[in-house]
Amino acid sequence: MTIAELSNVPKHVAIIMDGNGRWANERGQPRSFGHKQGVEAVRTVVRAAGEVGVKYLTLFAFSSENWRRPEAEIQDLFGLLKFFIRRDLAELHASNVCIKVIGDRYRLASDILNLLLEAEETTRNNGGLVLVIAFNYGARDELARAVQAIARDVEAGRLEPGAVTPEMISQRLDTAGIPDPDVIIRTSGEERLSNFLLWQSAYSELMFVPEYWPDFGREQFFEAIARYGNRVRRFGAVTPPAVAGSQA
Ligand code: FPP
Repeated sequence: MTIAELSNVPKHVAIIMDGNGRWANERGQPRSFGHKQGVEAVRTVVRAAGEVGVKYLTLFAFSSENWRRPEAEIQDLFGLLKFFIRRDLAELHASNVCIKVIGDRYRLASDILNLLLEAEETTRNNGGLVLVIAFNYGARDELARAVQAIARDVEAGRLEPGAVTPEMISQRLDTAGIPDPDVIIRTSGEERLSNFLLWQSAYSELMFVPEYWPDFGREQFFEAIARYGNRVRRFGAVTPPAVAGSQA
């Protein structure tokens, strides 16, 4: 699959990077080895997304449920995000990548929070790929925080309850200003969303691929983009005339 063969490239690709642990386990290695290799896959896919013209790439790096993992693994994942930003920020900035972070950042330790803020601040005016890092992110938590903000406006008399619209809710989410994902890819063969972008995925194409995340490279990414290009999206409307008559 070459870039020239790809058409109908999605504007926003979101990825649930799953399978690091199993990848490591199959090699008789500790889970940390899989996560480390996962960072290399992140670098590869960020480059590939930029090359092919994807405008937004969202990566699920740490979920609000990942706190249930052993402390050592949590520290490992935090360390890897710090390692990634320290090592790659200059290169991402030079490549015109704009970094945004979604998730409950204010419950994070100050060292990681400061790094995330620095990454956002350094790259905020860049006009290339928008790399959205979901960190300490959970969709239900994000929705609860949005509802709290709306409730505060209602309480203060700035908003009538009946005036709340879906658009207003979208604007209160961490992803405000970011278009909904066209496609959500999950690696490792698991077929669920696991509390990722639940509001924003209303019309997203879902794509489940068998490869573990460390094995998901350029070729697999382009393959997924090609598969997306063949899907017909209707957004609740009728089938386009070219394929009218088909059921679904
Ligand atoms: C899922 O594999 C992966 C994660 C929970 C973390 C993903 C994190 C990275 C790839 C590294 C840091 C991220 C960035 C953006 C630099 P798993 O541990 O659930 O694997 P398993 O299901 O096989 O156990």
